[in-house]
Amino acid sequence: MMRLTIIGFGNQARAWSQNLQDSGFPIRVALRPLSPSIELAQKLGFEIVEIGSKDFYQDRAFALLTPDQTHRDFMMEHGPHFEQGSAILYAHGFSLLKSEFHKKFPHLQHVLFAPKSIGSELRRQYELKGKLGAVYSLEFFQGEVLEFEKWLLKLAIALGINMGPFKATFKSETEADLYSEQGLLCSLIPYAAGEMFQHLVESGTEPELAYFECWHELKLIVNAMVDKGPEGFFDLISPNALVGAEKGFQKLITPEFKNNLKGLLTDIQSGVFNQELDQTDVEETRKIIRERWQKSPLMKTFHQINQDNR
Ligand SMILES: NC(=O)c1ccc[n+]([C@@H]2O[C@H](COP(=O)([O-])OP(=O)(O)OC[C@H]3O[C@@H](n4cnc5c(N)ncnc54)[C@H](OP(=O)(O)O)[C@@H]3O)[C@@H](O)[C@H]2O)c1
Repeated sequence: MMRLTIIGFGNQARAWSQNLQDSGFPIRVALRPLSPSIELAQKLGFEIVEIGSKDFYQDRAFALLTPDQTHRDFMMEHGPHFEQGSAILYAHGFSLLKSEFHKKFPHLQHVLFAPKSIGSELRRQYELKGKLGAVYSLEFFQGEVLEFEKWLLKLAIALGINMGPFKATFKSETEADLYSEQGLLCSLIPYAAGEMFQHLVESGTEPELAYFECWHELKLIVNAMVDKGPEGFFDLISPNALVGAEKGFQKLITPEFKNNLKGLLTDIQSGVFNQELDQTDVEETRKIIRERWQKSPLMKTFHQINQDNR
């Protein structure tokens, strides 16, 4: 079986490495010479190879699991040294589309393999034998694809993917992923929860109760939504919740909201979001967001409850 070199040891890479190793899929982990991750990777029993060493370039398949913003520099430095026909797997289509690696490095096979899960859940659901989905694209694969596709499907199984993997394109995966982050997963859900927590506390509700209503229960309700599907979910909720949900839907999902939501997708598809990204200092944005949440009453309650119940 062709070995996979996993580049990096962050969120996705740790989960990929652990799942694949536990499934008996041949892998090694590639890290920078002074990487702070070497110790942990060694402790977990992974074979480690130094990025840029002669041995590093020997494998025929690599998963580039470092942050998307690092891919351009990484590929410009190392891309020319990979052997003819070696495969580079991307867990997200963004960097390839932005930097057109398939045009810059036509001697490589550029493959999308995107588990639809954050790294921590990719690992947890693998251990729990839970449901995990993924999409892939071989649109930039040149030549006979059959054997590679078979290998990719074995990789999917070893990673714990049991829904799909479904075919997509680099473009559709990138757009859908950015859109779901912007419109729902990383904006609407946490910020609506934060607002509602604050309203409840300001109107006299105990913070612990507000925390459970607005944050902790999210996890439980989302489990039911995903397990039962939308129709089954609405069949499941109480009459009060049902009538209240209809009221909230009519009041909140306004034409303006729908337009704003569509606007996010338009900005992604037209390249406006890419330009905004280029003009943004990511670390500065991270700092602002971290400070916003550190100061928030929701975060304070989160710490209190989780410390008290450790
Ligand atoms: N976060 C998620 O769970 C998630 C979900 C879906 C898709 N993805 C995709 O998965 C990929 C990885 O994302 P991630 O969030 O897992 O990344 P991450 O956790 O931020 O990656 C950190 C790892 O990347 C290494 N790294 C950082 N800069 C590097 C460089 N210039 N050269 C070599 N190694 C470098 C770090 O090395 P050191 O250990 O040496 O510091 C560290 O091991 C991305 O394409 C992302 O879009 C991620």
